Amino acid sequence: METFNGNCRNHFCFVVTASFGFWFFMFYFHSFHAYTLMESKNSVQSIQNQYENSVLRNSDQQGNISSLPVIENETPQPLKQQSFEENTAIIESDPCSGRYVYVHDLPSRFNVDILKDCKTISMWTDMCKFISNMGLGPKLSNEEGAFSNKGWFATNQFAVELIFYNRMKQYKCLTSNSSMASAIFVPFFAGLDISRYLWGGFNTTTRDSSSFDLVEWLVKKPEWQVLGGRDHFLVGGRITWDFRRQTDNETDWGNKFLFLPQVKNMTILTIESSPWSSYDFGIPYPTYFHPSKDIEVFQWQNRMRRQKRLWWFSFAGAPRPNMAGSIRGQIIDQCRASKRCKLLECSSGVNQCNSPSSLMKMFQRSIFCLQPQGDSYTRRSAFDSILAGCIPVFFHPGSAYVQYTWHLPLNHTSYSVFIPEDEVRDGKISIETVLLSISREEVRAMREKIIELIPRIVYADPRSRLETLEDAFDIAVQGVIQRVNRLREEIKEGRVRNDMGFVEQNHWKYALIGGDGEHEWDRFFTKPEDAGT
Ligand SMILES: *[C@@H]1O[C@H](CO)[C@@H](O)[C@H](O)[C@H]1NC(C)=O
Ligand SMILES: *[C@@H]1O[C@H](CO)[C@@H](O)[C@H](O)[C@H]1NC(C)=O
Ligand SMILES: *[C@@H]1O[C@H](CO)[C@@H](O)[C@H](O)[C@H]1NC(C)=O
Ligand SMILES: *[C@@H]1O[C@H](CO)[C@@H](O)[C@H](O)[C@H]1NC(C)=O
Ligand SMILES: *[C@@H]1O[C@H](CO)[C@@H](O)[C@H](O)[C@H]1NC(C)=O
Ligand SMILES: *[C@@H]1O[C@H](CO)[C@@H](O)[C@H](O)[C@H]1NC(C)=O
Repeated sequence: METFNGNCRNHFCFVVTASFGFWFFMFYFHSFHAYTLMESKNSVQSIQNQYENSVLRNSDQQGNISSLPVIENETPQPLKQQSFEENTAIIESDPCSGRYVYVHDLPSRFNVDILKDCKTISMWTDMCKFISNMGLGPKLSNEEGAFSNKGWFATNQFAVELIFYNRMKQYKCLTSNSSMASAIFVPFFAGLDISRYLWGGFNTTTRDSSSFDLVEWLVKKPEWQVLGGRDHFLVGGRITWDFRRQTDNETDWGNKFLFLPQVKNMTILTIESSPWSSYDFGIPYPTYFHPSKDIEVFQWQNRMRRQKRLWWFSFAGAPRPNMAGSIRGQIIDQCRASKRCKLLECSSGVNQCNSPSSLMKMFQRSIFCLQPQGDSYTRRSAFDSILAGCIPVFFHPGSAYVQYTWHLPLNHTSYSVFIPEDEVRDGKISIETVLLSISREEVRAMREKIIELIPRIVYADPRSRLETLEDAFDIAVQGVIQRVNRLREEIKEGRVRNDMGFVEQNHWKYALIGGDGEHEWDRFFTKPEDAGT
């Protein structure tokens, strides 16, 4: 929930606004959640019958994290990535050295029990169908030919922690010996947990209870004592603002999970991180594509290279009439006024925005895809557009550039177009003119870049393993291990970031430019008084 020059910069404002009435709720429901309601009634029904039982069965059988395959003495094979900083105690011949992950065997109330009660997860979306297929959701049929034949699912945008959890079971370097581990995974479903309590008037005590319960459990473990949790990580499949409640005022939004001192010691992966915080990191929203073999990715990439693109640019989304400063109205107006722009309006009732097929077809037929902020900085749509080989156009650096620094190139001009939103808001800039001024050559180069990015932004099907490609999960685990190694070094040398002049509030700059000098994007990130750290 972002306004731009005003004082209402984050998700908390949403709550304040939302409390003004039911209609705003309905609006929010349609615009934010409608995007995820992607199944026709019929297929939902049949899929649901199919899964009612299998969901429970799955969570019983596979949810027990102690049943994860533990690979200790795998046949040696060459390291795929040289970029790993090596741990101190390495046996040279072990392909997993420096990459071991230990998974905490959490009590089931922190993960699979939440799935058993899937009807309570969201007031707006029936999450029961979305947790099927290990979190990928129901299989998509390919009637319109918008997908390839295998690997496509109606994946919910908030399912990433479940996919990650299941994907971890395929991770090649799991260990049951935590002292060998480079990082410690905490399989807590932080997003699904708080999702149950965001709406419906639950008090702050209820919203915070799992958070307190979890840290209490963690700190008692010997693994915690080693580094005070600095080597622990977990995934929250919602935007960071849902976990950052400032006060205990009942009207404030979300829980305070990310403000607990123990949690601040961990590495938290979320689909949208805070630009002003050093311990949460953006990971891609899930897309609809979850390949189980490398070849499925290569074929899709080739298809996107050959794809005929009819529209110069396109936009799928709803206006935000209640959000001061939103440029979505202008974007829709500019798109309507251009014969080169294709618009998929998501505002009213049942519409094509609910259809993954319609969305993916439009992105595939477009050269540029407009990605203004939504209710918060980021949108799932940015990743759907990359998957479709459509060059994303961002209007705020918080929408991707300062978020997904592990997954996307730091040089944003190599794969995207940036049009500062204040210039659109002032009516100074024609999006069409900017996009038409980009040469065919540059377009080709950017498109090739994003097509190359596809494997990095998709989550592979957790029931199988890609052979040579590294997916969004692999990149995220690498990012965590590198960060933990760095922290380990700092602790060993007795260095503390705050003593080194590190300013938490400038975190977005450190990630991007390695320092905190003046930056042309400073105006986008003036921190609101009440955002905390
Ligand atoms: C996991 O399974 C083992 C044996 O199958 C059992 O002893 C343990 O209690 C289970 N853990 C959880 C969290 O269900
Ligand atoms: C666990 O790993 C450590 C360090 O590599 C080793 O010293 C220890 O013997 C291992 N423990 C078990 C039970 O294998
Ligand atoms: C919060 O809600 C729970 C469940 O409804 C209730 O048991 C508890 O007393 C409430 N706590 C406070 C402080 O109101
Ligand atoms: C809680 O927040 C509301 C709305 O912002 C405000 O009116 C109220 O005074 C606050 N209550 C307390 C105890 O701070
Ligand atoms: C956080 O980690 C530091 C070590 O880096 C440790 O001294 C501190 O106690 C930890 N905090 C908590 C709450 O465990
Ligand atoms: C960023 O990418 C663009 C386009 O590929 C290229 O022209 C430019 O030199 C790159 N900048 C840096 C600093 O590498």
